Amino acid sequence: MAEKILITSALPYANGQPHFGHIAGAYLPADCYARFERLQGNDVLYICGSDEHGVAITLSAELAQRTPKEHVDHFHKIIQDVFAQLGFSFDHYSRTTWPGHIPTTQEFFHALHRKGLIEERTENHLYSEQERRFLADRYVVGTCPKCGYEEARGDECQRCASSYEATDLKNPRSKLTGSPLTLKPSTHLYLRFDKFKDRLTEWIGKKHWKDNVVRFAMQYIHDLKPRAITRDSDWGIPVPGYPGKVFYVWFDAPIGYISATQEWAQKVGKPHRWEDYWLDPKCKLVHFIGKDNIPFHAVFFPAMLMGQDLPYKLPDEIPANEFYMLEGRQFSKSDGWFIDLQDFFSRYTADQARYAIAANAPETADAEFSWKDFQMRCNAELLGKFGNFVNRVLVFTKQHCSSKVPKMGPLHEAFRKQMNEIVDCAAESFQKFHLRKATQLLMELAQAGNGFFDAQKPWVLAKDPARKEELDTVIALCIECIKNLALLAAPIIPESAQKIWHMLGFSGEIAKGNWKQIHTQAVPTGQVLREPVILFRKVEDAEIEEQIVKLGRAVKKMETTTSLPSLKPQITYDEFAKLDLRVAQILEAAKVPKSKKLLKLHIDLGFEKRTLVSGIALSYEPEQLIGKKVIVVANLAPATIMGIESQGMVLAGHFDPVLELPHIQNLPPGSVIC
Ligand code: MF3
Ligand code: ZN
Repeated sequence: MAEKILITSALPYANGQPHFGHIAGAYLPADCYARFERLQGNDVLYICGSDEHGVAITLSAELAQRTPKEHVDHFHKIIQDVFAQLGFSFDHYSRTTWPGHIPTTQEFFHALHRKGLIEERTENHLYSEQERRFLADRYVVGTCPKCGYEEARGDECQRCASSYEATDLKNPRSKLTGSPLTLKPSTHLYLRFDKFKDRLTEWIGKKHWKDNVVRFAMQYIHDLKPRAITRDSDWGIPVPGYPGKVFYVWFDAPIGYISATQEWAQKVGKPHRWEDYWLDPKCKLVHFIGKDNIPFHAVFFPAMLMGQDLPYKLPDEIPANEFYMLEGRQFSKSDGWFIDLQDFFSRYTADQARYAIAANAPETADAEFSWKDFQMRCNAELLGKFGNFVNRVLVFTKQHCSSKVPKMGPLHEAFRKQMNEIVDCAAESFQKFHLRKATQLLMELAQAGNGFFDAQKPWVLAKDPARKEELDTVIALCIECIKNLALLAAPIIPESAQKIWHMLGFSGEIAKGNWKQIHTQAVPTGQVLREPVILFRKVEDAEIEEQIVKLGRAVKKMETTTSLPSLKPQITYDEFAKLDLRVAQILEAAKVPKSKKLLKLHIDLGFEKRTLVSGIALSYEPEQLIGKKVIVVANLAPATIMGIESQGMVLAGHFDPVLELPHIQNLPPGSVIC
């Protein structure tokens, strides 16, 4: 009987482009699983959407000088493009700013409230008189109460690593304007998570989830306290009856899974169908997340669900993945440690990316993307084993069997058995969220096919008319192997699987087929194969070198000092003091047409805005610079560069060919540097 399976991927924050680290954690494994379960004939609903509220978003919107709405619209589109590029098969991709999310979130709150699980508390919070608003921790800097560091962040000190409440900071200031903050009482609503301790403990106790998930969750359950679910802000879901307050983003975001399902139901014209998933105890709910999201999915959201009147499903599975890095370091766009996806997809296919990530998925330990590994996966595995096997068999069939599937005889039981075992084992791996293993098995099957082809030497059989039957069986079995490869590949590298399906002479989509049928029914004898096409191209050493150099440029190590320029003649203090150096915030950045090195910047000096031209284009992408605060020579006579009047100069460190901008964390634009 078909099983109902509701699959979610963590809703990505709409304040940046997803990178392979995110993809490897919460998206690709979910998509492969969804595709696999659809092939199993199950009733799969795969839901995701953008997470568009919260302080991280308002802050980065402010830095980018956009309204939060403009900001999330911008990134919602970018995220959708990346996901489409990778072929993710969401049944619906929503966003938490769609209007239907408001009543659903508010009803969650009302239900908790009716049960007496919401409590008001009035406490002091940091308030900026100048900005006329309460500031969330991320907007605050001040002096660390432990070590005295003056530029400490609102939640923890980046020097001594101690964590504290923002209200404990000495001399607290606004990160954006530097204005002093005062304490002012504000009332917030707290959800009594502590009251769910027993139910949560009992519930998790029955789960056979990954060790790290259970252990992490249990620790949180042990320390459960009431937590504030409201914030002072105008960006978010309004709290009914509390003007000026919105729900904390981690309150509304997971409810987004439900409202996204509701939006899907509306879209398909059956507005009640969301209930078939969320309210049916027989439906299996699977949340794919990265490990940093465990407490929210294994503890807080389940508690919120337990506190509802409707019989909501609790998660059945939480396959949480470990971290996925880039060449041993965390992806960081601002440090230049990232892969430009637009560039990536202009060179490589979605299947190459999907395969490389799946083969090395961070299931049980942290894993990483490395360019060398990517090249090896593409060349030695996808092309060398998989693509090559498909191609040699199809070309051989074209030449020796006039492109028709020959008749299969009873020989070669061992190879048949080996194929069946691999296919069954792969199915089990997909089902248990062992994507890495499933991907290995795909290559194992290709390897088995190659081994069989080599051992049977069909090119020898073809020379002897007396061995026609043998030849036919060998080729028919190799074609079976290709069909099984397409089946195993369908969840992981769907485009290639479809190409193979087509070459085998089938019409329609393999993705719409049924696993068991495809596996057990042989490709019909006499079926006409289509013209073989090459599935994967070779990734050349030079391309990989180029990518590695590009990364290296971001952090080129200064190993040698021998090439440093010699010191200039001494100057007096008075000569130095003529320079007027100021903090400037970059508002806009764009490449100067026809120039490789130049960027045109629009900057804010606090007292005025200016345009200037800077030769940093080889080291920085324009988007990386928006919002950064740099140092500018503000009293330099203007100069015209490539037809643009440059009203000042940005200071940058040079170590050929690397340029690095020193940047200012906390000072407001216009501050004097001396
Ligand atoms: N936006 C969060 C993140 O990227 C994930 C939200 S998941 C949800 O870490 F459950 F809240 F939706
Ligand atoms: Zn400190």
